[in-house]
Amino acid sequence: MLKQPLSIEPIDNSGNETPSNHSNNQYFSEVLADYQQQRRGFLRGGLSFAVAAFMSGGLVGGLAGCTRARVSGQISPSTARPGFAPVSAGRLDNVRVPTGYSAIPFVPWGTPINGTAPAFKSDATNSAAEQSLQVGSHHDGMHFFPIDSPSEGSSSKEGLLVMNHEYVDPNILHFKGPTLGAMRPADEVSKEMEAHGVSVLHIAEDDLGQWNLVPNSMFSRRITGTSVMDIRGPARGSSKLATRFSPDGEQTRGTLNNCAHGVTPWNTYLTAEENWAGYFVNRDQTLPREQSRYGVSTGDSRYRWETADAADDLYKRFNAAAQGASASDDFRNEPNHFGWLVEIDPFDSRSVPQKRTALGRFAHEGVIFAPAVEGQPVVCYSGDDSRNEYIYKFVSAAAYHKVSAGGHLLDSGTLYVARFLADGSGEWLPLDIANSEFMAKAKSAGVHFADQADVLINARLAADVAGATKMDRPEWGAVRPQTGEVYFTLTNNADRMLENVDAANPRARNPFGHILRWQEQGVAHGGVSFTWDIFLFGGPIGTQTEAEPGITLDETNHFASPDGLWFDRRGLLWILTDMSGGQLADGPFGHNQMLVADPETRELRRFLVGPVDCEVTGVISTPDLKTLFVNIQHPGEQSLPGQFTSHWPHGNGARPRSATIVIRKDDGGVIGS
Ligand code: FEO
Ligand code: CA
Ligand code: CA
Repeated sequence: MLKQPLSIEPIDNSGNETPSNHSNNQYFSEVLADYQQQRRGFLRGGLSFAVAAFMSGGLVGGLAGCTRARVSGQISPSTARPGFAPVSAGRLDNVRVPTGYSAIPFVPWGTPINGTAPAFKSDATNSAAEQSLQVGSHHDGMHFFPIDSPSEGSSSKEGLLVMNHEYVDPNILHFKGPTLGAMRPADEVSKEMEAHGVSVLHIAEDDLGQWNLVPNSMFSRRITGTSVMDIRGPARGSSKLATRFSPDGEQTRGTLNNCAHGVTPWNTYLTAEENWAGYFVNRDQTLPREQSRYGVSTGDSRYRWETADAADDLYKRFNAAAQGASASDDFRNEPNHFGWLVEIDPFDSRSVPQKRTALGRFAHEGVIFAPAVEGQPVVCYSGDDSRNEYIYKFVSAAAYHKVSAGGHLLDSGTLYVARFLADGSGEWLPLDIANSEFMAKAKSAGVHFADQADVLINARLAADVAGATKMDRPEWGAVRPQTGEVYFTLTNNADRMLENVDAANPRARNPFGHILRWQEQGVAHGGVSFTWDIFLFGGPIGTQTEAEPGITLDETNHFASPDGLWFDRRGLLWILTDMSGGQLADGPFGHNQMLVADPETRELRRFLVGPVDCEVTGVISTPDLKTLFVNIQHPGEQSLPGQFTSHWPHGNGARPRSATIVIRKDDGGVIGS
């Protein structure tokens, strides 16, 4: 995740956007009495032990023993155990996987998507127009849709690999890095916009077991920071979405900072707009709450796209100041077009992406759907990845029926936000203008929402009002197939002070992160209560997660800053890390990595270690589990123009390129077995 304005300086990948949650929601100090009353019931080792460990910089995971009221009869064991020799932590400029496996780079940034020209130029002199026909930069969330997905979805030989391109590094994207100056060259800005977004790639495995792009496929396409999109759901047509491009507030251009993703029960792809706020600037005296609560800059935008030396609105829209006579005369509402989940039908290359506003506007890390149940609502979860932000759940108004399911189910429903209680229970709080309790809280907080569109556009504020629990940067979620339990990564939180730790975020500073899980109460994930516990604490060797069974991290599995999370269908949990800054540069963990865990036993093994300065993010297998696709994002992120800190994947002094890797077992077996 990019954190700094455009500069010739290498990126300071600190992992943090500027926090913007200044609400007074409950912190630990306020629930301490309640916490202490209940500690007998759920603490192992006791609160005093845990607090003493935090204060001494200890590495205890002492709150993990929360009671966990599993639903009787729902637990069945995983059908597999990790069966490979763990990879050691380390700092080589390559990808390392266990003995007996291969990892082959595939579809790196700049690869022509239809298998023909324009070819990638190794000096990065491809134009914006060429980039729009090539794989984007900074590969992130990803899914493999078997080519027969609309029916049975069983092919492990051919399919659509759909992936996000989260952001760009101008030092690497351009031949000599970005041109610095008061105005940015429009051709550079255009190339940066075209390198964002999503790739839909039609791929197939040949007789030699090699994966290739299918040339001239009717499916392969790029969706970028300039593509026209529809706005759907309750916010469609809101006056707060009116712009010069779309006075009626029904369309927009582009999707940005596409982090993780989701797959709907009807086999479409959702791309999540995460740290979009930094792309905008507004130097007006006062910022509307739709911008201030999301951290829109009053100084400089991240890439200064708004300064492009062309008069086109395509660039000027990133200046969100009120400059015209009304909202329809300028782009004061352009930031309200971002922060959504965007639905893409990979099987229809002519389909227009749909921004689904019923799912709320925030820094969506990704989205994970609960298994669809015939006749029950559709349910999905999304985390807001910023320090002290929240975890949300959407429950559709209409029931799921396989024969008629589609994106319309995401246009009407209830958005909830999570409150984690100290006794190991939790509740989903509705953000709904028709809910009297929510509206009473808003009134007492002095907050007015004009309509449900206003609630959704200001989802963070609505969640503040509802009394949600401030979390340690929620990242990916995953649903365990055997039990329906929902797992979520909380990557880290430098702003978590000792005085405001809570049971679900129990470590001060939390530099190493943890993984939380919950079991919904009620039918098909649609209820309003749950029970939760902490599955795993990150940290150096010796870090403990006290539970039954517990785990103490050792040299085969120590990790920090968990981010990506995915259950394979056997029920093994794949964990991907996004360490940054000093933790990545000289911490005890080596480079970013991927591990696999058994959710039943907490057994944890390191499966992969990535190259210099990369993040490991995005993982999916073919249905037969014999090919695993994993994304290596931003190798060489600390590079200066022409001075690259990584040369992965090509080596020999080459420019680094984000890429997918294709992992196979040499004996053709199931990955991880
Ligand atoms: Fe884009 Fe929160 O990682
Ligand atoms: Ca991420
Ligand atoms: Ca991250």
